[in-house]
Amino acid sequence: MKKKFHSKSAKETIELGEEFAGVLKQGDIVAFYGELGSGKTTLIKGICKGFGIEKGVKSPSFVFLRIYKSRYTLYHFDFYRLKRKEELVNAGFDEFFFNSGIVLLEWADKLGNLLPESRFEVVMEIRSENEREIQISHTERREWSMEG
Ligand SMILES: Nc1ncnc2c1ncn2[C@@H]1O[C@H](COP(=O)(O)OP(=O)(O)O)[C@@H](O)[C@H]1O
Ligand SMILES: [Mg+2]
Repeated sequence: MKKKFHSKSAKETIELGEEFAGVLKQGDIVAFYGELGSGKTTLIKGICKGFGIEKGVKSPSFVFLRIYKSRYTLYHFDFYRLKRKEELVNAGFDEFFFNSGIVLLEWADKLGNLLPESRFEVVMEIRSENEREIQISHTERREWSMEG
């Protein structure tokens, strides 16, 4: 199932993220795709808000990872500056995929074959300065629903 959403403001994207948080469960992995400024971090802010995390959510560009504690532990990665994915393997990064939290991956395409097969995919596209098209799907059969 693929769902398409149209957002007309950053606020609407945050609200969509809050709703998406309600779908997410322990062990879920979410891969975010879309150019710089398409709203990946904004949507993640909304997801975190849905879990009660209101502050400190921003792209972890220089450290690759930020961790937020809530009912679940949220692992927020941003691979924008990643040059060699082998570096991550050496750092034991795949451990997070078997961890007891929710994993949010910006620039997931940089992971190539390291990306776990079972995952949500969120594709974000810029339509105009304040409009974004957001597509959400899951790579496996998975019951979920959102009104948008
Ligand atoms: N509908 C929208 N949804 C999300 N962000 C929007 C929207 N309209 C404008 N923006 C702006 O676009 C920028 C998105 O930045 P960000 O979320 O950091 O993107 P990314 O993480 O994909 O690089 C923010 O400055 C945000 O305020
Ligand atoms: Mg970002």
